[in-house]
Amino acid sequence: MTHSERASRPRPPGDTHYLLGHTAHELRRLDVQGDLYRDTTVRAFREAGITAGMRVLDIGCGSGDVSITVADVVGPTGSVLGIDRGPDAIAIAQEKADKRNLGHVRFEASEINDFVRSEEFDALVGRFVLMHQADPAGALRGAARSVRDGGAVVMLESFMELLRTGAHSEPHSPLYDELVHFKCEVVRGAGADLSAGGRLRSTFLDAGLPEPACRLEARLEGGPDSPYYDYVEQSLRSMLPEAQRIGLKTYSEQDVEGMADRLRSEVVALRSSLVVWPVVAAWTRVDRMATD
Ligand SMILES: C[S@@+](CC[C@H](N)C(=O)[O-])C[C@H]1O[C@@H](n2cnc3c(N)ncnc32)[C@H](O)[C@@H]1O
Repeated sequence: MTHSERASRPRPPGDTHYLLGHTAHELRRLDVQGDLYRDTTVRAFREAGITAGMRVLDIGCGSGDVSITVADVVGPTGSVLGIDRGPDAIAIAQEKADKRNLGHVRFEASEINDFVRSEEFDALVGRFVLMHQADPAGALRGAARSVRDGGAVVMLESFMELLRTGAHSEPHSPLYDELVHFKCEVVRGAGADLSAGGRLRSTFLDAGLPEPACRLEARLEGGPDSPYYDYVEQSLRSMLPEAQRIGLKTYSEQDVEGMADRLRSEVVALRSSLVVWPVVAAWTRVDRMATD
């Protein structure tokens, strides 16, 4: 099989591995990602009506950023359960919660579709997880069964296709352009959905949930001190094994080393602003009469 044949061959439907794995640098990347998306995430939780005392389920919690963020919103009278298929991610998440003495947050290794609830939740949350599912509406429908009638469902998903097809820096940064296209190719080649954010409204409806409120947001980053350049380098590093697996023309470890500094230099010299991966937040309330 040639390089290009392999590149155009996405993972088969139903192959729902997480393309970036859970290496140490990927777990660090998830931390920086948490910082970049925290404002948007908290805003969505508050608008969805998540408040003190609520019991929350976080699906695909990774290293725990969303679980810990929502734990601050519900406070110690509430509780959070984060689930993820990766036991190493779960261990890191638990360590982070323990370090902050968050006794009301716990984590469990589980596939979303295998999760058996032992309690009822007031809210279901998740971020950047439906894009990795072969059947996102099915996963959402199953997880929403754990939420009480009238409880909140809040999902945040990336809309990478917007950057792939549209402007993503102003003035134009050639290096960022190259990196945006590479990242999109890897993510799509791995079978994830670049338009998960754009489709989020219909995913809610296909899951049998009521019409959600939706918002699209994107940060602009630039200047010498932005954390985004490091984030871009860490993402690139996490993607190398998957890029190799699908046969893309890829970067070597040496190319990746120092990428953050090269991007920073270019952006600062151009006085450019970079558009960070846009995210769609959608939220609604479970209506048991309509869904059952
Ligand atoms: C991009 S990470 C996002 C982590 C976290 N939600 C955040 O925003 O920081 C996606 C996570 O979802 C998990 N995941 C993907 N599909 C899953 C599934 N079907 N069941 C359980 N976990 C899953 C992966 O293991 C990974 O940790």
